[in-house]
Amino acid sequence: MKITIVGAGNVGATAAQIIVDRALANDVVLLDVVEGVPQGKALDIYQSAAIQTSDTKIHGTNTYEPTANSDIAVITAGSPRKPGMSRDDLIAINADIIITATKEIVKYSPNCIIIVVSNPLDAMTYAAFVNSHFPRNRVIGMSGVLDTARFKTFICMELNVSIENINALVLGGHGDSMVPLVRYTTVSGVPITDLLPKSRVDALIDRTRHGGAEIVKHLKTGSAYYAPAASIVQMIDSIVNNRHRIMACCVYLQGEYGHSDICLGVPVKIGAQGMEEIVPIKLTEDERAAFDKSADDVRSMIKKLQ
Ligand code: NAI
Ligand code: 2OP
Repeated sequence: MKITIVGAGNVGATAAQIIVDRALANDVVLLDVVEGVPQGKALDIYQSAAIQTSDTKIHGTNTYEPTANSDIAVITAGSPRKPGMSRDDLIAINADIIITATKEIVKYSPNCIIIVVSNPLDAMTYAAFVNSHFPRNRVIGMSGVLDTARFKTFICMELNVSIENINALVLGGHGDSMVPLVRYTTVSGVPITDLLPKSRVDALIDRTRHGGAEIVKHLKTGSAYYAPAASIVQMIDSIVNNRHRIMACCVYLQGEYGHSDICLGVPVKIGAQGMEEIVPIKLTEDERAAFDKSADDVRSMIKKLQ
């Protein structure tokens, strides 16, 4: 197993470190445009493996040749949000970066699975999918895993229960109109609506929708990276270990959930082949309306790309 991470910034380097810690690959390649940064971070992480007793090898590079024959390539390259910026403001900066990265990845690793992380996530996943000419099972965006983790964390904080008790699912685009599905949110099997009044559930949903911005506001000079990196690794773990885990991921839709020619967050099964199945869930009228609104927002972003 060889994993390439494009972008050795906060998200990319943190994901690389977790992969090495957990020995999820034989080789990791960390790539960045800034000279010295991927080399220095990779060497530092390599030395941490001595303490973690992981045999994963990691190397830094500024060119794509060393990424050849990767099984998985993660794109985290680009610019993160600054205070006051929406994820969508990043489109102009990041589109060119993602398209170039995709083409280089495909050139050197034509059989890999691409995980897109850069924002605006849904539009960037679309750009990577179209420019890769890969089948759709091999281009997957990371967003729902993170948004779901945030929703679960806020429920956990509110109820003071173990995170293991909580099941939740957040669909739609990775933006303010994302769709946390209350009907599928349970605490040890008990519906969240039996445990909390509607006003509190709504407050947790609102906090989830703005979960990224809340962290940007604190950090001032960047956006979240620990939970995003952990989310990437959860997806990688399901691929590497062929777990068939069901998780919310951004994939290209061909009529599923009533939408086509768009990349959006839906429940999917992730295994050795990448996205193995889009899991159909019946949505209520309200859920459907919220999902369609989120799709509209993503579509307008994709139009800007085109
Ligand atoms: P960062 O600024 O720490 O790292 C980005 C790295 O990309 C930098 O090291 C930069 O030199 C590198 N880079 C820029 N152009 C490049 C190119 N052409 N080729 C290779 N590397 C290049 O940013 P951070 O925090 O790591 O975030 C990365 C991206 O991920 C941002 O777009 C951010 O908005 C997004 N993000 C998405 C999340 C999601 O849920 N999908 C969660 C967190 C971040
Ligand atoms: C987040 O949700 C910035 O998309 C990134 O934290």
